[in-house]
Amino acid sequence: MSASSSPMMHMCVLALAAGNHVAGWRLDEAEAGSQNLPLLKHIIQTAERGKFDLFFLADALNTLPTMHPSMVVRFEPITLLSVLSTVTTHIGLGATASTTYSEPYNLARLFASLDHLSGGRAAWNVVGGAFPDAAANFGKPAHPPHAERYSIAREFIEVMKGLWDSWEEDALVMDKASGQFIDAGKMHVLNHEGEHFRVKGPLNITRPPQGYPVIVQAGGSDAGRDLAAATAEVVYAVVPEMEMAKSFRDDIRQRAERFGRDPGHVKVLPGVCTIVGETEADARKKLAALGEKADHATSLRVLSERVGHDLSEYPLDGPVPDLPPSQMMQGHAVVLMEKAKREKLTIRQLRDITTATMGHRLLAGTPEQIADGLEEWFAAGAADGYNLMPHYFPGAFDEFVDHVIPVLQKRGLFRTEYTGTTLRDHLGLPRPEHPAKVHTALAELSAAE
Ligand SMILES: Cc1cc2nc3c(=O)[nH]c(=O)nc-3n(C[C@H](O)[C@H](O)[C@H](O)COP(=O)(O)O)c2cc1C
Repeated sequence: MSASSSPMMHMCVLALAAGNHVAGWRLDEAEAGSQNLPLLKHIIQTAERGKFDLFFLADALNTLPTMHPSMVVRFEPITLLSVLSTVTTHIGLGATASTTYSEPYNLARLFASLDHLSGGRAAWNVVGGAFPDAAANFGKPAHPPHAERYSIAREFIEVMKGLWDSWEEDALVMDKASGQFIDAGKMHVLNHEGEHFRVKGPLNITRPPQGYPVIVQAGGSDAGRDLAAATAEVVYAVVPEMEMAKSFRDDIRQRAERFGRDPGHVKVLPGVCTIVGETEADARKKLAALGEKADHATSLRVLSERVGHDLSEYPLDGPVPDLPPSQMMQGHAVVLMEKAKREKLTIRQLRDITTATMGHRLLAGTPEQIADGLEEWFAAGAADGYNLMPHYFPGAFDEFVDHVIPVLQKRGLFRTEYTGTTLRDHLGLPRPEHPAKVHTALAELSAAE
């Protein structure tokens, strides 16, 4: 199949550098993980060589020795991306930042800086924070409840956008002849007073090159889907099966339309764990070998986080119990619990699935088989592209870029060159106009009538 004018897939890599698989870091060929700058440079440069849209860093604001190995210790995402922006030229730079434990003014400034420093490549993964232990690091008595986290996030995004609009595009004059440095008439003071935030503004940095950095969201609950549909331009999804993926994407698109948005401006990227082999049996063997190296206590903790309840209190070979709704990651919990119920899984079996994929889709096989699997969902309208979750770095990602990307390119499903310079260009997203320009255009239109 080849049709160069057809829509292309979008590709993101989730750079959990000690591996997305709980045991990925233990392979002889894996390099030491998340604080290894040469490795992180290699990953992002490989992604750019593969013409990926986006390099993405997850984050949390707490730690424990028993967390997923890629999450125990790691660089702060925006700091790291600022460095990585200097060794790349095109690829998007996605950082996770919490709306529960940040202030909009600080974060608007950080993302504006990253967008400027990188020439318009920043993206913000908006999270309320799935991990309640963070509260104790910020002097808070408790992690806010699920609904409140989303209410805070909604207002936070509104304030961020308002701050990014502090200056009209051409406010910085720097006219040596007249002595005018900045045009104060093009400065906008936000004066935001809302339920959760009071922010005067203006921001002390000019409007980001992309207008607003690209907004990313990954909530799967009803409130999460609404926030994604109202504000996000990239949506990560935990959808291990095609029907689930299709209905998730349809739902997000319908909600986006209800919010008055063009559904084409919301790119749904399901997570996918790929294991490339010379044969399918070879790929499966690699997966089984990894499973044997996994630390079961860590895997069970990762599963417990995903379902929002401590499963270590239940018999390992008993059925997965009925659990009340998660306060942590509702969408993720529903996917795992439904799978357990449908397939009558024991806790041990669900733990082993989580070890490998954290509940995401698994594709193990030859490059052609993996490309088939990616093409199938894309053609069925179940995905706009993928959030790739390699089981270890660098080898598993190198193999994907060297062997699977060329198959997708040959089929006309993925770009062979970047056609723009900003992340919005790669994703086919419009650049938001400054509201003052929109108002002026509307005023001129009505004056002309
Ligand atoms: C691919 C992916 C990446 C995520 N990355 C983070 C992250 O870095 N930090 C975080 O706190 N939550 C992260 N999450 C969790 C979501 O942002 C969201 O908070 C969580 O799924 C709860 O939302 P829900 O209850 O609406 O499903 C991620 C989820 C997915 C699917």
